Amino acid sequence: MIVKPKGTVDIKDNDALIMEYVNSVINNMMYSYNYEFIRTPVFESSELFHRSVGESSDIVRKETYDFLDKGDRKVTLRPEGTAGVVRSYIENKEYALPDVKKYFYNETMYRYERPQSGRLREFTQFGVEVLGSNDPIVDAEVISLQYRILESLHIGDLQVNINTLGDNESRINYRNALVKYLEPHIDELCDDCKERFKINPLRIIDCKVDAESDVIKNIPSVLDYLNEESKKRFETVCHYLDLLEVDYEINSKIVRGLDYYDHTVFEIVSLQNNDSKASVLGAGGRYNKLLKELDGPDENNGGFGIGWACGMDRIISFLKTMDIYQNIKREIDVYVMYVSEEEKLNALSIVQNLRLNGVTTECDNMNKGLKGQFKVADRLGAKYLVILNNEDLAKGLVNVKDNATKEEEKVDISELVEYLIGNL
Ligand code: HAM
Repeated sequence: MIVKPKGTVDIKDNDALIMEYVNSVINNMMYSYNYEFIRTPVFESSELFHRSVGESSDIVRKETYDFLDKGDRKVTLRPEGTAGVVRSYIENKEYALPDVKKYFYNETMYRYERPQSGRLREFTQFGVEVLGSNDPIVDAEVISLQYRILESLHIGDLQVNINTLGDNESRINYRNALVKYLEPHIDELCDDCKERFKINPLRIIDCKVDAESDVIKNIPSVLDYLNEESKKRFETVCHYLDLLEVDYEINSKIVRGLDYYDHTVFEIVSLQNNDSKASVLGAGGRYNKLLKELDGPDENNGGFGIGWACGMDRIISFLKTMDIYQNIKREIDVYVMYVSEEEKLNALSIVQNLRLNGVTTECDNMNKGLKGQFKVADRLGAKYLVILNNEDLAKGLVNVKDNATKEEEKVDISELVEYLIGNL
């Protein structure tokens, strides 16, 4: 028997119904906030991720699915959505447009992770990227958008953990302070952190292995190394979030695992989520320097970006634990019943006519007897049964039974659609 690859999932049954619901909430919310849908390729040139996600990130160091295609090109399955969207923005010179570009996506991503709770090798992320503005109003908008989507899914006790990495000058100051602080302690840290120390010491701050060590607990705070401009910018973002009534905690240990971030970084957790490994439902931040890094405009020429992504699979796992999501049902409107071949021919066109008029309709597909068909109709939650028999059909009539009250009525076939739509 062939089984699914390690770290992948089949989304079906109740999970699929939850996912459909989440998708409808996302689509409505993105429309209200005026975001446009974008789909970028599932594979891109490997260089794109090396230059964006970064050489010091766990993703590029150990998790990408890289291969040579038949033309000997180095390609990588996308491990995240930002790089592709920014690549497309630059490739299509959208930075020359007078307005910001506000994109959303909802796609599968690929990371060769050690599969565990909340960590898959193929997973779905929905996310946004806003390109072309450095105004803190955009930082506040994207954070509140993620917050409102999670809130609309009825996830309680949401908390935004927010931090800033500051501008280039602040980051250099902080990096120097970190190196000075960490150098005498480097032997006490894990092997990954020893590596990170050489490439990007900032990444040591959110190391999961060393989190409880005194070295990390007493690490200098980035907030003490911000220049005036970066400090003011961060205060403005927080002020706007207050106005938008978003609950947040300033947490100077949030740096996120991708190298492209500067200024605002954040993650959203639900304090109700007991699964600590999957507790971060979504995360993101500003990445102004990334645009230049990918041969786009620099910050003096409008090279600005910010975004976030949420883990759909984590959200589904969490929603499943909530009572309201346990028995989501997709119920049909009408079940059409027949027995003889002649009734079946009539059923075919009646079913099609109802479906084309927007009435969710099903009929027997397995030559079951009437008793079996009643059972299927109940299982599907049919609100009405349309029962065909040759005698009534000859007079142009069908029996319509309200499956809740069990009341039955004969209805003219030509009026059936109108009758059902009027009663549903
Ligand atoms: P990230 O923090 O790597 O950010 O991922 C965002 C979210 O995707 C995580 O909070 C988590 O919910 C989900 N996620 C990540 N890895 C896995 C996995 N292996 N299995 C299941 N879910 C996972 C990014 O990807 C950035 N591109 C976000 C961003 C957009 N920043 C700016 N714009």
